Amino acid sequence: MTENSTVNDCNILPLSKIHNRGGNITIVEGNENIPFMVKRIYYLYDIPGGGRRGGHAHKELYQLIVAASGSFDVLLDDGVNKKVVRLNRPDYGLLVVPGIWRELFEFSSGSVCLVLASEKYDETDYLRSFKAFKAWKYKK
Ligand code: TYD
Repeated sequence: MTENSTVNDCNILPLSKIHNRGGNITIVEGNENIPFMVKRIYYLYDIPGGGRRGGHAHKELYQLIVAASGSFDVLLDDGVNKKVVRLNRPDYGLLVVPGIWRELFEFSSGSVCLVLASEKYDETDYLRSFKAFKAWKYKK
């Protein structure tokens, strides 16, 4: 799944949630409740009002994007179809498969965007312009 992926392959996955008087805990286990092993975790925070992130696609990378705190929107685009997903619960994650353009925006104040990734950082896996993304995906 790379060039052939579509926005319909990117789904909201419910994560486990254990609730008690002391609060909640959510657990993510590679190849258990998400379809990849996690090699890298990063998180976006202190995002200024009106800030936008993303604006790229990946050739091979799988990601799970979680609103660990607050809320934000994720635009997904496979070059033909688009969809916007609002993330606002820490016990749900958005699976983003390879070959999908994504943009993140409308971050609420103090929000934290947690990203679990299937590979270590590799700049050569990025498609950083929409034109390059479409050319790669549709071999135009
Ligand atoms: P980028 O992935 O473009 O950020 P975003 O999608 O959130 O807008 O990364 C921003 C910068 O951080 C870029 O210079 C690459 C660097 N970076 C790393 O060095 N390692 C990483 O794991 C990530 C995600 C980014």
